[in-house]
Amino acid sequence: MERFTAKVAFTAATTVLAAYFILPWALKYPILLGKNRVWEPDPQFANLRETCIALHPSQLRGCEKFKIVGDILFAACISNWESRRKWFPPMGKLDMSLGEDVIRDSLYMVDLKTQKLTLLSMPDFPKHVDFCVHAPGDFSIYMVNHRRDASVVENFSYKSGSEEVSHMATYNGVQQGLINPNDIFAVPPSSSDSSPQSEFFVTNDHYFRSSKLGRILENYLRLPTGSVYYYSNPTGFRRVVRGLSNANGIAGFNPRQLDSTHVLANMVFVASILEGIVTAYRYVPGKAAEKGGFVKLRDFAFDFVMDNLAISQDGRWLYLTGHGEPAKLDWHWRSPNEVSSASVSYRMSLTELGAYFGKRGEMGESRVEKIVVDRMGLIGNASTTAVGDDMLNKYWISGLTFRGIMECSLYTSIPHGEEEEESD
Ligand SMILES: *[C@@H]1O[C@H](CO)[C@@H](O)[C@H](O)[C@H]1NC(C)=O
Ligand SMILES: *[C@@H]1O[C@H](CO)[C@@H](O)[C@H](O)[C@H]1NC(C)=O
Repeated sequence: MERFTAKVAFTAATTVLAAYFILPWALKYPILLGKNRVWEPDPQFANLRETCIALHPSQLRGCEKFKIVGDILFAACISNWESRRKWFPPMGKLDMSLGEDVIRDSLYMVDLKTQKLTLLSMPDFPKHVDFCVHAPGDFSIYMVNHRRDASVVENFSYKSGSEEVSHMATYNGVQQGLINPNDIFAVPPSSSDSSPQSEFFVTNDHYFRSSKLGRILENYLRLPTGSVYYYSNPTGFRRVVRGLSNANGIAGFNPRQLDSTHVLANMVFVASILEGIVTAYRYVPGKAAEKGGFVKLRDFAFDFVMDNLAISQDGRWLYLTGHGEPAKLDWHWRSPNEVSSASVSYRMSLTELGAYFGKRGEMGESRVEKIVVDRMGLIGNASTTAVGDDMLNKYWISGLTFRGIMECSLYTSIPHGEEEEESD
């Protein structure tokens, strides 16, 4: 009798486990791999691709991340494609055979009014240090530098109008477990003091760095081994969240992106890309490492492996951009001229979200729009970052193997429901 009860209990427990954890986890694979994806954007964006022009396609290659501040687009791009293909930790490329050559990636600036391209020089950056950029932040410009001895965060200061950046500091979080930094959000200075950003959040995408098996397990089993770290000079690196499946893009707000209600103040979004989930958190400036200083608000589920996140300058949209057929990404990386890698880019409205975000206490899910769903990589392959501007009717997108940054018209026809938005 006892054995029978134990058996029933065991069966019940496994059934519950299967129903609540294993099944949803397994069912997510075909979604994330794009097996049943409808390869079409929303109708109002159907002709977007035809409006795109490539900005500086001969100079700008593989700009993995860019950020628009006012009229200026800052982009971190590849200098040497052959070395990037051998050495890029986020893709698990860890070939040390580059020899003595240092890796020098490039930080560019594009004036979006005149399209003038400027390569920002880094005169005081130590010459013997690898510079393999990944993510420009704000006006301190923070970038992940995938040095071959360790991936670190670099702090540069940029003065508006200048053609160079000054190197301020290097932060190495390896001791604290920040092995694979991916993307950075620099906390904007609070309005009371005008000092430049002196705290930031950085995502850590994998737990393993050089273990091939570890990487494979993390990716294929979608292990929750990613995390988010906080850094300030008094605290050093402190992990504030763990258990994310490949924590990748992170984005938060600057004061100029907030409306008068400030409901979105001190909020950051983090993409756990191997679950297709974006999580919203609220932080307390200066106290993110303390108890209650970094609090989860809620998850938002999507149906693709996103990469970087970006918030439009008007603060009304969160853009998510990434990979529609991630199983082909590695293949494309090896043979970019033979195999395509689908580009996918959505945006989620930040003005009509549920209880946490709504201005008037609205409940429910937010509107999500599919802007690019491009299986053949016609606009470009392996998109990683995009952002739009409704006022200018512009949209920019780039990715791992894009040539140039694509500048497109966001709407080619009147967006549905625009008429009702007048009163805002
Ligand atoms: C980065 O450098 C700037 C100087 O431009 C400094 O004000 C800021 O505090 C530095 N960031 C950190 C995290 O210390
Ligand atoms: C994307 O990749 C495919 C396959 O290599 C290629 O045919 C296509 O031209 C690429 N797209 C762009 C915009 O270069």
